[in-house]
Amino acid sequence: MQIVMIQDKIVPFGEVPPVYFDRGMFFGDGVYEVMRSYDGKLFAFDEHMERFAHSLSGIQITGVDLDQVRSRVQRAFEAAGIPNALIYFHITRGSAPRNRVWSDDLEPNFFLSISELNDNGDDKAKGIAVSTFPDWRWKRCDIKSLNLLPNVLANTDAARKGCSEAIFVDEAGWITEGAGSAFFAVRGQTLQTTPLTANILPSITRKYTIKAGRNVGLKVVEESLTPELAASSDELCVASTTKDIIAVVKFDDKVIGDGKPGKYTKRMIEEFRLFVV
Ligand code: PDD
Repeated sequence: MQIVMIQDKIVPFGEVPPVYFDRGMFFGDGVYEVMRSYDGKLFAFDEHMERFAHSLSGIQITGVDLDQVRSRVQRAFEAAGIPNALIYFHITRGSAPRNRVWSDDLEPNFFLSISELNDNGDDKAKGIAVSTFPDWRWKRCDIKSLNLLPNVLANTDAARKGCSEAIFVDEAGWITEGAGSAFFAVRGQTLQTTPLTANILPSITRKYTIKAGRNVGLKVVEESLTPELAASSDELCVASTTKDIIAVVKFDDKVIGDGKPGKYTKRMIEEFRLFVV
């Protein structure tokens, strides 16, 4: 007899709710997006949907109706009635008894949650501390996949050290990105960040941060940094949907600048606000 055990309960195979057979759970076989709204308006919806489509095709999940996803997001956003909302959604390949090889007739599973975003006020004013962590991720970090174990380990390590974000360093000694953010350094009049390759997520906030940097008179250089270069920079910041731009005032043990958010970072934060109205 084929059976399943869930916690302490033996369940006949045929009676197991499909959610327990979700390939997202067995294999992280799915992709996700995180987007937000500002004052009741969804921000960068098209960009998030484009990246979601890229992620789906990157892992060969086919047949998803993206217009339907779009209208589900809109419907849920309206139903939640939260002006500054954090919107998370994912699609997994579907539910089936554990088998690495998927069958093409699976029905994808959709999940979405909406919650209130806090405004990161304290972090915005004071900046955050970050700590480095080895980049143990796979070679397709441009896909926003549900496999986040290296990110989970990195962020927990950072939190245990009293830091708000982890910065990944690859085997060759280059910074790739934050565990949940893009990473930037201001050196003189230059804003430096990792180039877009399959080694990092094409962060949407990264794109707007680059734009903000140019608007405040910085020259943008898309070249990787080492931790040593980062630690000796005039200013550092990270960028992500949930936090937009946030100054980094401590990098491992090194205080950056005078330990307060730098002038260019502050100007970029102001500039970024103009994109979201
Ligand atoms: N993470 N890099 C990584 C590894 C990320 O997980 C994220 C975002 C970013 C920033 O991307 P964007 O600007 O498009 O939000 C960069 C989201 C917020 C998350 O997983 O919760």
